[in-house]
Amino acid sequence: MEEYSSKVMEHFRDPRNVGTIENPDGVGHVGNPVCGDIMELYIKVNEKEIIEDARFKTFGCGAAIATSSMVTEIIKGKSVKEAEKVSNQTVAEALGGLPKVKMHCSVLAEEALRKAIEDYRKRKNT
Ligand code: FES
Repeated sequence: MEEYSSKVMEHFRDPRNVGTIENPDGVGHVGNPVCGDIMELYIKVNEKEIIEDARFKTFGCGAAIATSSMVTEIIKGKSVKEAEKVSNQTVAEALGGLPKVKMHCSVLAEEALRKAIEDYRKRKNT
């Protein structure tokens, strides 16, 4: 069985940006029907389209928690356009890699980010 990297363990034990944002500009809510894990990602975007804050709530495995934590760290301070380019691969690499059987957990983080950005665009245009 493949081991978790020290970065994964660090973000699992001490996840960054846990929680929600009051009056968020975008929310992404996703779930994996196979394992049943759920992830919610909240973003706060300023008038320059920079992500000022990102928070998450994840009911899931250690890798899902570590990837949620890392994705919030990666997108904070980035423009929405830059954040859109962040893939599950980016997140997994920033964590020093994930065991193959756990790569789908990082996909959940990518999907949550996509949904949060989609929601932000929708709210902006209404
Ligand atoms: S096992 Fe479900 S997201 Fe990791």
